[in-house]
Amino acid sequence: MSVSTHPAPAAVPPVTGPQVRAAAGVAGWGSALPTGVVTNADLERRLDTDDEWITTRTGIRERRIATDGETTGPLAVAAARAALRSAGVEAADIDLIVVATCTAEVPMPSTAALVASELGTSAGGFDLDAACAGFGYALATTASLLSSGLAQRALLIGADTMSRVVDPDDRSTAVLFGDGAAALVLTDPSVVSLVPSEVQAATTAPRPLPGLVSADLVVDGAGVDLLRIPAGGSRMPATAATVAAGGQFIQMEGRELFRRAVREVVNSVQRTLDRAGVTAADVAWFVPHQANARIVDAVVARAGIAADRTLGNGDRYGNTSAASIPLVLAEAADEGRLHEGDLVLVSGFGAGLSVATVLWRWGRP
Ligand code: ACO
Repeated sequence: MSVSTHPAPAAVPPVTGPQVRAAAGVAGWGSALPTGVVTNADLERRLDTDDEWITTRTGIRERRIATDGETTGPLAVAAARAALRSAGVEAADIDLIVVATCTAEVPMPSTAALVASELGTSAGGFDLDAACAGFGYALATTASLLSSGLAQRALLIGADTMSRVVDPDDRSTAVLFGDGAAALVLTDPSVVSLVPSEVQAATTAPRPLPGLVSADLVVDGAGVDLLRIPAGGSRMPATAATVAAGGQFIQMEGRELFRRAVREVVNSVQRTLDRAGVTAADVAWFVPHQANARIVDAVVARAGIAADRTLGNGDRYGNTSAASIPLVLAEAADEGRLHEGDLVLVSGFGAGLSVATVLWRWGRP
């Protein structure tokens, strides 16, 4: 890797607003989606459901569903390559790969190892599973590893192929989920390489350091059974009998999950803002997990976040689990909505009931 230490502490700009706790700049981003689109009309043709029920209950209009060759590993690799291109860095410049997923390409080795192998790099790598809260956990973890000096430039990938763990005949879950992946290249801003995007950022006007400002990571253990895949793990390894019983598919108590998710996410958002000493009014963009538009609406209303500051794409992609927040971030970054210094609040929830909220100061390394 080609790196040199940022030369002058004097050049570090005065920080305005809350200080970052774990500095990390976003050098690039990218995403990958399966090509196949499944609309609500498509689902109507094979399930006892209808477009009106799905859109009013969830806000979802269509989702991408993977064919063979578009599963978690290939999607993660494609998103990673896109992020590397966007950052203008080579795979060899990466020293850490973190993949947030609950639908790994295979049980072993990790999807991160498969990504490293495909990219031809010997970077360190591991998977992180916190279901749909995975991206927030992975963002906090990766930023912490960068700011501790254990890594300098990381690929952070959220990738899931939920279609493989959803019973296609179960209307209560089949309408909700989709497949996809998105990746960020995160760089320790105290290390500046000869990568053009990073050099350019390092020589521009004074600015607050980018990275993690505050976070809230919790598991509401009382909700541990609300979303589960009973078979296929060490408790109940997959057998012909478990497969015949559909034990490899998601089981969900949707109504209770909805109720708890709203409460836990609102509380988590408030704790995250309090820890940073800011209010909802200071947040430039809120990026909630794209599980359900009604959950997002309820959270936004209760947390006092302006609806027009809230970003989403769940209507087009459904719930893509750990990919959902980075897919929104990558799209917003492509559209030029995320500006240097913006406070971006992300919050995910999922099986566990795991919740991860991160307040992030957006910026190049
Ligand atoms: N089409 C038509 N009818 C349906 C469908 C469907 N796709 N699915 C369920 N129904 C029926 C039910 O059978 C039920 O019928 P009944 O009254 O005759 O028994 C009726 O609709 C109401 O069912 P509920 O489950 O009570 O409907 P609800 O209003 O709660 O909406 C939903 C269901 C959309 C799943 C909602 O509960 C929800 O969004 N929950 C949160 C789910 C979630 O976010 N999960 C992902 C978590 S992230 C992760 O970790 C993967």
